[in-house]
Parts: sequence; structure tokens; C-alpha cells
Amino acid sequence: MTTRSENQKSGPADKVVHVQIENGHALVTIDNPPVNALAVTVRRGLMEALAKVNDAKCETAALICAGRTFVAGGDISEFAGPPPLPHLPDVLSAIEASDTPFIAVMHGTVLGGGLELALACAYRIADKATRFGLPEVNLGLIPGAGGTQRLPRLIGLERAARMASIGKPVTAKDFAGWGGLDQIFEGDRMAAIAAFRANLPARPDMTSARAVEDADLTALTAEVKKAAKGSNAPLIALETTALAAKLPFAEGAAIERQTHLDLRSSSQSRALRRLFFAGRSVTRPARLKSVDTAPVNHVAIVGGGLMGAGIAASCLAAGHRVTMIERDEPSAEAGHGRVEAIIAKDLASGRINQDKADARRAGFTASAGYAGAFDADIAIEAVFEDADVKRAVFGELSAVMRQDAPIATNTSYLDPNMISEGMPGPDRFLGLHFFSPANIMKLVEVVGTSATSDRTMATAFAFARGLGKIPVETGVCDGFIGNRILSAYRRQADYMVADGASPYEVDAAMRELGMPLGPYELQDRTGLQISWANRKRQRASGTWPGRYVEIADQLCELGRLGRGSPTNRGWYDHSDGPGKPDPEVEAIVQTYRAEHGAKHESFSRDEIVLRVMAAIVNEAHLILEEGIAFAPEDIDVVWTEGYGFPKHLGGLMFWAEETGMAKLRAAFAAMQAQSPGSWKAAKPFA
Ligand code: COA
Repeated sequence: MTTRSENQKSGPADKVVHVQIENGHALVTIDNPPVNALAVTVRRGLMEALAKVNDAKCETAALICAGRTFVAGGDISEFAGPPPLPHLPDVLSAIEASDTPFIAVMHGTVLGGGLELALACAYRIADKATRFGLPEVNLGLIPGAGGTQRLPRLIGLERAARMASIGKPVTAKDFAGWGGLDQIFEGDRMAAIAAFRANLPARPDMTSARAVEDADLTALTAEVKKAAKGSNAPLIALETTALAAKLPFAEGAAIERQTHLDLRSSSQSRALRRLFFAGRSVTRPARLKSVDTAPVNHVAIVGGGLMGAGIAASCLAAGHRVTMIERDEPSAEAGHGRVEAIIAKDLASGRINQDKADARRAGFTASAGYAGAFDADIAIEAVFEDADVKRAVFGELSAVMRQDAPIATNTSYLDPNMISEGMPGPDRFLGLHFFSPANIMKLVEVVGTSATSDRTMATAFAFARGLGKIPVETGVCDGFIGNRILSAYRRQADYMVADGASPYEVDAAMRELGMPLGPYELQDRTGLQISWANRKRQRASGTWPGRYVEIADQLCELGRLGRGSPTNRGWYDHSDGPGKPDPEVEAIVQTYRAEHGAKHESFSRDEIVLRVMAAIVNEAHLILEEGIAFAPEDIDVVWTEGYGFPKHLGGLMFWAEETGMAKLRAAFAAMQAQSPGSWKAAKPFA
């Protein structure tokens, strides 16, 4: 699977790197928007610039970037094929060995190949807001142009190994403190260059020529293994960085390069790169690109429960003014308390400082009554999941708000068409399905009704992106993209439990695949009651598909509503710390099987995974065929961002393609035999 962006090429070399020489000093500018990625044209341009600088015997060459950032990495769109010449390691070696010393003058995000480029320069100075990182591991890769070998020679092995394996950028202050920068400046960079040149320190040894002191990486290795959760690149990055203390630069760099190239074609890296581009294209639907959006400053949120408070906190964090509306003062106070608790937690953990916390508090009010929503630019209702209650809220909001301000329902299952039916100005209504906890989870499903205008949709997308969320458009169906697939997932899991697998085996198998939690652990975390109510609704309306397994209902009837419920039990027993498998549940399952004449099949872990995956991949294809999702990438983004499907597996659709549809078709056939009449087959499964 390649994406639209995988084959983009930037313009000719003379357009992307410029050289100006004045009074014996050169200014080399990379100008390759949007992020100055090191495309082949830039690499060529740098070689040409280097030749000019050396021909002119310049005293120094300052290397800067136009636009919002210094080089933010290699050009990911080139990684699908063999790298065209010149290769980055050769360009960097030439810059490092240049007679004229290069000064990297940085701003923005200096990432991956950008940092490797800076490491090859004789000097490094940066604006104080600059951030530095080796994020290749997030794309299933390691640096490929000497980064893992030069960085430890500059800042020490442990720090370099951490940057390369964890992939998190660091601040200019930290980086300078570790010896990564010669100077931090503020304001005009041309003045900073002039000042630095005026007091140029003696030219240091080439970074690649320095020795590295060995360090004990045992603790870091354990940390990286734990955080990687099945992703291969982080540990490889760590091990490769460690070579810097054992091998001369040239040998370490050669191993790093080959490893980087090998990883480019790995399934994990292809998966992560595809998601990188999908995460950007899915959140900016092409048809909305030229549509004007309305500015959003003031957000009204109806409902101060967990969801409403999470959405409010997220809006406050993005700098919006927020008015929370509750049905009475005590509820408003409770809602206020929930938002305050999130702000206080962010402050206590150091995620935000006192000024930010104060600004968030100042931007927030919670009260009874709708009057405060009169000048809101967008409203989101997050009240109880009941169509009549939600309709009443829509009615109240449309009575006080501007005619063109979008009004959204945060529903997980209900049809926004039905909630907004008959209301004036139907083009302003839509669904915005946030995921819990809404101040943390990034996914937002954006659900247009048959009357929603493009302006409302474009405004909603821009608003959600502004919150730092990942908005994905979905059509209307029961559960939209994410929860509809989740229903198929749970259904097939329940069928296997009814026929012989224990819920704990199912959980273990799915965790082994890389899911953070199995389906039953997840239910215990989120509470069993919402899906119980939903099943009742579907059965009452006759829309439940196929065979029905009552075990979860029986648990609910016993008050086993999950972790944190009054019984503190669900599928597991949480009464004593971490959830433990519960013999009572096993007994309920046994009785159920006996009463229903189950065949007592046993399922291997592979079979469990394949049947669950066949169920959800089939559902995903149905969703595509029905036009609920527009592209396979939409589904993969929804499930990796909202349901914890491992990113290094690329999402359901990518995983299915890598695993092979033949295997999934066989599993699907077995599922149909297991639960006749329960699965409608999508075209690839028919
Ligand atoms: N190669 C190719 N394209 C890149 C790129 C790269 N290294 N980094 C960003 N882009 C593209 C994005 O695809 C996007 O393109 P689009 O406008 O066509 O969708 C555009 O640049 C802007 O990126 P975006 O992420 O939307 O902007 P941002 O300001 O939110 O973030 C970065 C900027 C640089 C922090 C972020 O893009 C990023 O982390 N990039 C990857 C860096 C990386 O991993 N470098 C190592 C590569 S091995």
C-alpha cells in the first residue's frame, strides 16, 4: 500500500538550496517547504553549495532554513524505493570534512536527518525555542546518516541512546546543556550569526573523529523494551547507538546505514509510514480543502460528566473560552470540579505551568441554563446517551445560538439525523464523537447528517485539529466506524467464549497480537453497562445481527459492571488490586455452555486472533462498501488512534493485507460454520 504522498518529489536543486557569499562568508539556505525535508534535490543542492563555498575559500558557511523549521528529517516520501544519489551519509561526510567550517543555525524542529546534518557541521547554534530529536523509531526506522554514531560522540552514549530509541525531542536548553550546541540565541538569527562569527571558537575536531566513553545501558534497555510494545526499531536503535563505544565511526556508521536501509522495507516501517501520511490526509478531507471555516473562540459544552469535562479540558488547553451548561447548579458545580481536577493534575505533573493553569481556569465557567451559550461559536452536547434528551438539548441550543454556529452531538451510537430532525437550520448540526478520556484520546469521529453543510464540516475539522485531535469523517450507521467494528469484535469473541474459549484466553491472544487490552479487560475498564444498553436497544429494534450470547447480560444482571463499579467485578475480579480471572465467571460460562449444548471447541491462540481479525476486517470492508468510511486508511487511523490497535501493525486493513486475505477468508468460513446466519460477508469474503 502506498499513499498519495509516497511518491512526491520536490523541485530542482537550484530552487531548494541557495548560496550567498559576502566578505568571505557564505550563507547557505535550504528552502524546501513545508518542512525542508532532505529530498534528493536538497542533497544535490547541498553538494553544489559545498563546492561553491570551498571554491570561494569562505571563512565560514552558515547553514539556515527558510520557513517554519530547520530540516525536519529525511524525505519520508522517498523511503518506498531505493535512495537516489547522492546519499545523505556522503553529503554529511563531505560537509564535515569541508575546509570551510559549517555553522548550523537552527529553529523549529530539528529532527532525524535534520539533526544528523547539524551533527556534521563544525558548529551548532539555535533559537531558544528549537527542539531536537531522532524520531525515526516512530516510523519503524533508525537514523541512517551517522546520527547514532555522531550523537554519542557529542553528548555521551546514554543520552544519545535515549534520544535514538525513545524518539522524543528535547529542548534547546537541555541539548545545549549536554554539549549539543555552541550557543543559544533569541531573536534575529542574522545578528546571531554575525555575533557568533565575530567570536568564532577554535574549530573543534570532527565529531566523527572523537572517542566515546562506554556506559551501562541496562536500565535504558529494559525501559525501551517495555515501551516498545512489539515495535522492533527502538531496541535496534539502542543497540546500534551502543556500537559507537565499540567501533570506529566508519564501521559503526556503515552498520547503521545498512540497518536503516533494511528497515525501510520492513512491514513495521511500511505500516508506520503509511499511518504517518494517513494521519495527515484523513484529517484534511480533499473536498473540504477549499471550504471557508468559521473561527472558533468560544465553545459551549452541555453536560459536565466525564465526557463533557474531558472535552471542556481539551478546549481550554487549546486556548478556547468554554461555557459548560448543566441542568442545575449542583451538577454545574460537579462539572466544574471535574474540569478543575484535570487542570490540577496537568499542573501537578508538570505538563503545564501555573500561568497556563490560571489561563485555563480564567477561560472556564460552568452554570445552569443555556443563556451563556448565546455567543458560542460551536456547541457540543455530551449528555446521557438518549435520543430524546439529546434532542431537547439541541432545541435549547438552537434557540439561543447564532444560526450559523455548528451544534454537535457527542454520541457513540445514535443517529445525528434523528437528533436534529425538524430543527431550524439543519445544515449546522453534526456528530462529533470524542473518545474517553476526551482530554487525552486523540480520535474524533466527525459525523455529517444528510443536511450538514460543507462549511459546518470544515469548521468542525479545523476545530478538532486545533484541539490537537485526529478527526476522521464517518457516515451514519450504528456505532459509526469505530464502535461498529468493535461490536463485530465483541460478537466473535463472545461466540468463541460460548463455544469453548475462556474470556481470559481470548484476552491473552489479543494482547499477544499487540492490543493493549483484550476485549474483556477493555469492557471491565470502560464499564459493561453502555454496551448492555446498546445491545438491548438493538435487540428491541430487531437490528441485532445473528446469534446472541447472553453471558455479558448475565454479568450485568449480577451487578458485575466492571472495574470501579459497586461490586468491583466484571469479567475479572478487581476487588483486590489488579484484575484476576474469576472462578465465578468461569462457572457462569460453563453453565451457559451446558444450557446451550455448546460443542466445547478449543481454539488455539492463532485461531482466536484469526477469527477475531476476520470478523473485524469483514466489518471494515462492509463499512467501506456502504460508504460509511471513504478509504482503508480512515479505518486504520480510527482503530490505531481510538482502539489501541498497534501502530506498527498499521491498522486492520494493512494487517489483513500483510497477513494475506486467504488466511482470513478461511477463518471467516469457519466463523460462518460456527455461528450460521450471524455474519454478512463483505465482497472479499463472499
Ligand atoms: N518527509 C516528507 N514529508 C514530510 C516530512 C518528512 N520528513 N515531515 C513532514 N512532512 C509533510 C507532511 O506529510 C505534511 O504534508 P501535507 O501538508 O501534504 O499533509 C507537511 O509536511 C506538514 O507536516 P505536518 O506534520 O502536518 O506539520 P506539523 O507542523 O504539525 O509538524 C513536523 C511538523 C516536522 C514536527 C512533523 O511533520 C513530523 O514529525 N515529521 C516527521 C519528522 C520525522 O520523523 N523525521 C525523521 C524522518 S526519518
